[in-house]
Amino acid sequence: LKVDEEYNRPQFHLTPEKGWMNDPNGLWYDRKDKIWHAYYQHLPNQTTHGPVINWGHSTSKDLMKWDVHDDALFPDNKTGHGIFSGAVVIDRNNTSGFFNDSLDPEHRIVALYTLNTPTSETQELAYSLDGGYSFIKYDKNPVIDVDTPQQRDPKVLWHEETQKWVMLVAKTQEYKVEFWSSSNLKEWELISNFTGGVLGFQYECPGLFKLPIENAKEDGPDSKWVLILAINPGSPIGGSFNQYFIGDFDGKTFTPDDHATRIQDFGKDYYAFQAFDNTEPEDGAIGIAWASNWQYANLVPTKKWRHSQSLARKHTLRYVDVNPETNQLALVQTPVFETKETKADPSLKSWDVINEYDLEDTVLTSETLVGSDFNSERNSSGVLDFNLTFTVAPNATYGLNFGINIDSQIVEGTKETIQVVFDAQQTTWFIDRTTQHNFQRKIPYFQERLSLYHQFASSDAEKGNTYHVYGIVDRNILELYFNNGEITSTNTFFFSQNKIPSSISIATDTDEEIFTLDSLVIRELGL
Ligand code: FRU
Repeated sequence: LKVDEEYNRPQFHLTPEKGWMNDPNGLWYDRKDKIWHAYYQHLPNQTTHGPVINWGHSTSKDLMKWDVHDDALFPDNKTGHGIFSGAVVIDRNNTSGFFNDSLDPEHRIVALYTLNTPTSETQELAYSLDGGYSFIKYDKNPVIDVDTPQQRDPKVLWHEETQKWVMLVAKTQEYKVEFWSSSNLKEWELISNFTGGVLGFQYECPGLFKLPIENAKEDGPDSKWVLILAINPGSPIGGSFNQYFIGDFDGKTFTPDDHATRIQDFGKDYYAFQAFDNTEPEDGAIGIAWASNWQYANLVPTKKWRHSQSLARKHTLRYVDVNPETNQLALVQTPVFETKETKADPSLKSWDVINEYDLEDTVLTSETLVGSDFNSERNSSGVLDFNLTFTVAPNATYGLNFGINIDSQIVEGTKETIQVVFDAQQTTWFIDRTTQHNFQRKIPYFQERLSLYHQFASSDAEKGNTYHVYGIVDRNILELYFNNGEITSTNTFFFSQNKIPSSISIATDTDEEIFTLDSLVIRELGL
C-alpha cells in the first residue's frame, strides 16, 4: 500500500490534481472528439476556498477516469476578482458571431459565468477557439449587470420551441431563480422568476432540463421539466443541499406541477449539481455535483487537494409508489458506468472489474457468512461496489436489522468499518460513517449517522417486501442508490491511519429467518 497523502484520493471521482475545488462548472459533451469536459471552481495554490478563483479543467472519455488540464479561465488581475460558477453552451449556429466557418460547429464553445468582485456580481461571457481548453473574454462584458453583489451562477440552455437561449441565474438573497432570454448570448432580457422550496440563507446554482418519463402513461406526458436549486446554508440536515421541482416550461415560465419541493440526494455531500450541455435529450440529463458540504468543506482531511465531484449520474423520471396510496413522479439517478460511446467503442472504457463475488437466494441469519475477501494476498484498489436485492418476510419484528459493512484493511491490528444498515421494522436505512479520524471526532457538523425512509420496490403477501440498493465506495466517498436510483445518499468519510476500503460483508445478529438475499454482487474495481 502506498501510504502517502494520496491514499484517500478517489479513483473514479473527479479530483483536482492539487488545491481547492468546489462547484462543477461549464459541463459539456464534445460530440466531435467524443470527450466530456468538466470545469470547476479551482484554486491551485491553496486548499481553502477564496474569492480569487479560476475555472479548473478536466476531461474524460468514459466519465470514470478524468485527465487534468491547465486551468481554462482566469480572472483579470484586479483586486478580489474571481470567476465564479457558470455554464458552457455549444453555439453551433454562431448566434453570438464569435466564430467563423473554419471552426467546427461542435467546437463553438461559449462560457457564461459570474464575475465576482468585492462589490458586485455580474454575468460575463467568454468563448473558446480551441475546443474548450482556453477562453477569450468578450470585450463588451458584462452581459448582465443589475447593480447587485448577489446575482450569480448562470446556467444556459437552448430552448428549441422558441428558438431562444434561456439563462437561469440566482438572485441569491431574494430567493429568486431569474429567467433571462437571448437570441445571441450577448443581449439578455429578464422574462420571469421562480421562488419555491426550502429557502435557507440563499439560493445558488439553479438548473433546468427536460427529462423523459421511463414509464409514461398512455394518456400522460412522456417528458417533464425539472428545475434544480441549491441552497446554502439551511439544509434540513445541515449546511448545503440540493432540491428539485417537477413541472413544465414554455420557454418563459417554469410552472411546477405541485407545491412540493423534493430532495435531490439525502446525504450530506451533494451540492451545486450541474447537468452536461449537449447530451442527447432522450438519454436524460447527465450531471455531477460537488461531493462536499459548506459546513465543513474547508476542514476535511485531505492534504494536497480538497474535494471530489460525485460520479456522473444519468437522470430520468419515473412514476414511483412513494407510499401505499400515492404513485407520483420522482427523479431517478443512476451512475453512468457505460456511456453510449463506450458501449459502441469499448476501447474508450478505462476501468475493469478486478474481482467479483456473487450470491443468490440466501437466508441471512447470525450464522450466515456473506462477503468478499478479495485482498488477503495483496492490497485493495480501495474501490468496491455492491448490488443487493433482498426480501423481508412479512413477520419482521422490532429491532431486526442487518448491516452492509464496508471494512478498511487492517492497520496495526485494527480496522475501521462504515455501515449501511437496514431496519426491518421501520423500513428505514441508516448510514453510519463513524471513523476514528481526528477530523471526524472533532467537527460536530460532520454528522456521522444519517437515516432515510425507503418504500419497498415490490411487495408479495407471502414472500414479503423486496428492496434494492446499489452502493459504490471509492476511497473516501460512498454513493448509495436505493430502488434503482429513486433515492440517493452521498457521503464522504475519512478513515484514520491512511486506511482505505478493502472488503464488504453483510451480517445480522438475528436468528429469525427474516431476511433473504435474493441476489448480491460485490465487485472490486480498478482503473
Ligand atoms: C456555490 C457557490 C456559488 C459560487 C461559487 C463560488 O457553492 O457559492 O454560488 O458561484 O460557489 O466559488
